[in-house]
Amino acid sequence: MINIIGLGYIGLPTALMIAKYGVKVVGTDYNIELITTLNEGKVTFEEKGLKELFQEAIANGIEFTTEYQKTHTYIIAVPTPYLKESKKLDSKYVVSAVNSILDICEKGAAIIIESTISPGTIDKYVRLVIEERGFVIGEDVHLLHAPERIIPGNMIFELENNSRTIGADNPEIAEKIKGLYSHFCKAEIVITDIRSAEMSKVVENTYRDINIAFANELAKICRTDKMNVYEIIRIANKHPRVDILQPGPGVGGHCISVDPWFLVGDYPDLTNLILTARKINDSMPRHVLGRIRDIMRKHDIKDISKVGIYGLTYKENVDDTRESPTLQLLERMDEHLAFGVKIFDPFVKKRIVDHQFMNFEDFLNEIEILVIMVGHDHIKYNMNLIKGKIILDTKNICTFDDAYKL
Ligand SMILES: NC(=O)c1ccc[n+]([C@@H]2O[C@H](COP(=O)([O-])OP(=O)(O)OC[C@H]3O[C@@H](n4cnc5c(N)ncnc54)[C@H](O)[C@@H]3O)[C@@H](O)[C@H]2O)c1
Repeated sequence: MINIIGLGYIGLPTALMIAKYGVKVVGTDYNIELITTLNEGKVTFEEKGLKELFQEAIANGIEFTTEYQKTHTYIIAVPTPYLKESKKLDSKYVVSAVNSILDICEKGAAIIIESTISPGTIDKYVRLVIEERGFVIGEDVHLLHAPERIIPGNMIFELENNSRTIGADNPEIAEKIKGLYSHFCKAEIVITDIRSAEMSKVVENTYRDINIAFANELAKICRTDKMNVYEIIRIANKHPRVDILQPGPGVGGHCISVDPWFLVGDYPDLTNLILTARKINDSMPRHVLGRIRDIMRKHDIKDISKVGIYGLTYKENVDDTRESPTLQLLERMDEHLAFGVKIFDPFVKKRIVDHQFMNFEDFLNEIEILVIMVGHDHIKYNMNLIKGKIILDTKNICTFDDAYKL
């Protein structure tokens, strides 16, 4: 039996996927409300294919509880935020989960950390806790790090088709755990040491952050001198060794906007490029605010409540709003006392900000300027409804000639 600890965006699909392939799984989360919802037969977030996978896992006897289980294999998928001041990883959730496992696990149990952690986290925090509790690593428990790469919106497909990494102290244990992941993962599973697994995950997200920052900086340069950044990137990417990502209104979510900070926190003297990239991406909501101001002036619109923001999530076609560019933009607006802007997101069914509309047409009726912050399919399929509005399209999805861009 496998006990999965933490049933959020990563832990839940992972638990369901393992159960689908016939392994006995118990999912544990200390959030009682979340466990109650799952036990009522409902999934806790929107994701393509998740409901179907949930049904398959239920049919195979998956269980959900707030209690840790006595067993031989644990997968930890708890949050790993960074500390706002030092930018270092906050390991408290991982350490707490490891402690609870030690209270109950069988001798020789494998503890697999899937949460993203900065290089050295297992050495600095996890080993220490285990040794302080009098456990011998490699005998009483085995440690592994198997970071997750799946992207919200395509999680189920990517769980089965992405290559994975397993970092371990002991290659034999690594092979055993590779066997577990091979139940559902059809792609290559690379075995390495723990520190390389930790570092490679953080490096992947940092690479993307830097690439996006480059595109965002190009967008600002092109805006200053009236060049079309999308056309320039399109042409540049025809070079066989160039692959620039697209600019946008900022970077949100729980990975790309967070993980580079771990490196900045741990290696402050060595991370000039990484820090600059973070700052450029964090500056984009302010850039959008400047574009809104320019457009309001040009059209002689003085009332900010005539501006509507489309999209609250950090990426398209998901309901996750963590660290989203729109939330960052609203913070900037707050600082400038620009209250009253209208908001709509078809994926966000709970009211989480002021002036949030639940109906798209009611929202459109109230506004003159529409700012597209997220490229949900919903708006792509409803372009006819937004005709006649003054549009600021930060995602380059609108085909109208008169739409303003970043
Ligand atoms: N969300 C993503 O797209 C994504 C992608 C790759 C990697 N990751 C990484 O995966 C990890 C989990 O991220 P997430 O988005 O699933 O987080 P999440 O906040 O959605 O879920 C974490 C869950 O863990 C539970 N939890 C916290 N501490 C616990 C404890 N001690 N015992 C039991 N349950 C506990 C919380 O109640 C919550 O339900 C993070 O390290 C994140 O960086 C996330």
